[in-house]
Amino acid sequence: MGLDIKKLKEQALKEIEGIKNSQEWQDVRNKYFSRKSGELAKLIKDIKNVSDDLKPQLGALANQVKNDISSALEKKQNELAVSKQGKIDKDFIDVTLEVEKYKLGHLHPMTQVQNELEDIFQSLGFMILDGPELESDYYNFEALNIPEWHPARDTQDTFFIDPATSTSKEPQVMRTHTSPVQVRAMQKHGAPLRCVVPGRVFRNEATDASHDHTFYQLEGLMIDKDIAITHLVSVMKEMLSAIFKKEVNVRLRPGYFPFVEPGFELDFGCLICNGKGCSVCKNTGWIEFVGSGMVHPNVLKYGGIDPEKWTGFAFGLGTTRLVMMKYGIDDIRLLQSGDMRFLNQF
Ligand code: FA5
Repeated sequence: MGLDIKKLKEQALKEIEGIKNSQEWQDVRNKYFSRKSGELAKLIKDIKNVSDDLKPQLGALANQVKNDISSALEKKQNELAVSKQGKIDKDFIDVTLEVEKYKLGHLHPMTQVQNELEDIFQSLGFMILDGPELESDYYNFEALNIPEWHPARDTQDTFFIDPATSTSKEPQVMRTHTSPVQVRAMQKHGAPLRCVVPGRVFRNEATDASHDHTFYQLEGLMIDKDIAITHLVSVMKEMLSAIFKKEVNVRLRPGYFPFVEPGFELDFGCLICNGKGCSVCKNTGWIEFVGSGMVHPNVLKYGGIDPEKWTGFAFGLGTTRLVMMKYGIDDIRLLQSGDMRFLNQF
């Protein structure tokens, strides 16, 4: 029996040595390694019939032979893959070779929610507009009724571009909100107007669980004849029920923004703690979510629209905070951490 095994090995090695192409390689491999009818399978079956004291020795020998034949086949396979000229043999396809499976990515939760918001507003007849992240001081502040001396500038401290290095003649800032697109949109499209502007904004903030220095907002603007606060409230309600697909507690309170009159803050009940109080809502049970109001006549004028004929509402919602509430994220900074363990959950 021992001799038979050694003979099988010699025979196999000789055959492997003589292989000239991939078809022959496959045939020899099948001859020895086929599960049912292969020579090695037969050998193992035979070993089962020998006496118990011989089994371990023969088993070890058979195993050794199997490994030797397998190594010789592998070596031959590598030789065949490279032809005599040193080029890869295109006919040789190793169907047994495992390829690394590539992982499919997915959209960032911010992008997913932004897309959802765009769909909701488009279904309400709003255009989707875009604006520059590096904005002029004029559109970011002046045209929104915030002159240079105005104290409201302090609430939106940002990153100013050093005029010495700037290519623009005008003073420039990293935009602090998406509101500058209000006047840009009015100048470009006139009235009536319905648009939303999603985008990234920047502030010189000390960060905490609900404040980041770089975050996302979505601006909304509707200008038409006889627009009133009730239109604003119903659009907000429509948007919230479409996003959360359930009842969410909201409250409206007076808020000051120089570019609206009157102005409101809309908050929703914190969904992280269900209004009980936590680090995200600073133990108030409420999250400040939207700044809004009726567009100030001066801003309409900056946009070239006659405030005697037209009225409008505007709002700027914190998309990043919306994402936090939708998915129960208890620290805003996770969203831009780039941590795949976090991102893979969405
Ligand atoms: C504004 O930015 C105004 N432009 C909103 C506005 C638009 C008012 C149109 C009237 C008319 P405020 O600074 O409150 O307002 O920011 C709006 C929303 O952005 C907040 O309600 C909040 O949801 C979000 N937000 C503000 N600061 C941060 C921050 N540091 N990190 C994350 N989200 C923030």
